[in-house]
Amino acid sequence: MPESALRNPLAPGAGQGQFAQPCTLVIFGGGGDLTRRKLLPALYNLAIDGVLPTNFAVLGFALNEMDDQTYRAFARSGVEEFSRRSIDEGLWQDFERSLFYLPGSFDDPASFEALKRKLDDIEPKFGIPGNRVYYLAIPPAVIGLCVERLDAAGLVHRDGERPFSRIIVEKPIGHDLASARAANGAVSKAFDERQTFRIDHYLGKETVQSLLVMRFGNSIFEPLWNQKYVDHVQITVAEEEGVGTRAGYYDKAGALRDMVQNHILQLLCVTAMEPPWSMGADVVRDHKLEILRCLRPIVGPEVDRSVVRAQYGPGFHDGVDVPGYRREEGIGPGSTTETYVAIKLFVDNWRWAGVPFYIRTGKRLPKRASEIAVQFKAVPEVLFNLNPEVPLEPNVLALRIQPDEGLSLKITTKRPGPRVKTWPVRMDFRYDTTYGDQTPEAYERLLLDVMAGDASLFMRRDAVEAAWAWIDPILDAWKEDGNRWLPEYSAGTWGPIEADRLIHESGRKWRTL
Ligand code: BG6
Repeated sequence: MPESALRNPLAPGAGQGQFAQPCTLVIFGGGGDLTRRKLLPALYNLAIDGVLPTNFAVLGFALNEMDDQTYRAFARSGVEEFSRRSIDEGLWQDFERSLFYLPGSFDDPASFEALKRKLDDIEPKFGIPGNRVYYLAIPPAVIGLCVERLDAAGLVHRDGERPFSRIIVEKPIGHDLASARAANGAVSKAFDERQTFRIDHYLGKETVQSLLVMRFGNSIFEPLWNQKYVDHVQITVAEEEGVGTRAGYYDKAGALRDMVQNHILQLLCVTAMEPPWSMGADVVRDHKLEILRCLRPIVGPEVDRSVVRAQYGPGFHDGVDVPGYRREEGIGPGSTTETYVAIKLFVDNWRWAGVPFYIRTGKRLPKRASEIAVQFKAVPEVLFNLNPEVPLEPNVLALRIQPDEGLSLKITTKRPGPRVKTWPVRMDFRYDTTYGDQTPEAYERLLLDVMAGDASLFMRRDAVEAAWAWIDPILDAWKEDGNRWLPEYSAGTWGPIEADRLIHESGRKWRTL
């Protein structure tokens, strides 16, 4: 690791001054989709980079009947299909030696006894001192049971003990405030908050971390980053795909729970938070929590005024007909689940008083595009901005989160010629042209951070619950309305007309992405 990385407060583990420690990563749900698409490819890429601990093993645990050999083939197929870098035979052979599998069930205490035996067998071979990271890639309903069984089998060491035990919890954490509290409560029976790592993979995205550097590593933005100069902020997370194969989960969740409660509110926090005085995990998380606590509640009749939900109908994707949401496999014809949400919200603190934040997310939109755009106030109506019919375009700073990761700043210039003719231009920074196109996947960074014990990029219990506390009244109002306010948008379009009205009423418009 170069010395400069040691000094970088955003380097993996830097919050704790540590690097990935020897451990076994036990993946519950180790035979599932998340493991195959994301976790195993992320681990393989960490192996390529040579940043995994030298003493390291992975143990998949799930219902599927596999042995170590078939698990290695399962892992390889996932890496071949989803890894950002292709397989290097020599490296793969080294890597796969550290992969193990145990079939088992949460209902069965004997499975946890078998898990203990398997760990006791693997660890000495790899010189692993008994440190364990448990990854829960499992349905929320079984989290409590899994934690209970782990504890009962004596597989959890308490905070501060050596060897260490840590737990990674995937979203969704609950489906409302009460269930989130229950899920957090169940985990906390065996794991202290310091041992608990709640994943929001958006926080592991390079571009999201780079927002912090952009804000606090440059002197020119921060003085303007407030209600005096910012007209409004737009956060968009647009997806091209439909519900796909996740009907069972998604139809119960919907876009508000699936994307807004976690990913988008986290993006909002990073955009709006005050400068932390250090990059220490709790300092950063305290500052983000403050934003969640300053969100103006959207309650009762205000929900109809500030929130638009909608569902995609039939339309086009890549030039071919695609079905509407209610015709997707596994979705009932009467489903009222929203696949699109747009919200106008306010952060009621000194910095942001009166500045609207517009957020929107949806499935089956025209393209995959996520960005945070800060639009600055217009210049006064003098000099070059005299014609109210054709006002100067305002400055916009847009951080593209994905794809085409980068940053652009729209500014007004003079078009060459004898007359003064203004012209908006975009100054553009692209990650791929500057740094090459090998941006690490979010899971790579996050897995490494857990092994290093650095929780800065993970959601603390109070933040998860504060986010739900803000979301709950919106869900309550929708429940009361039933299907009454559920507009439709054609697949392949930018959402319903109601979302345009939400922003047009103040004379603003959604950005074209
Ligand atoms: C997940 C949601 O958390 O994030 C999915 O459950 C969504 O519905 C996904 O598609 C988007 O992640 P990314 O990294 O592809 O933007």
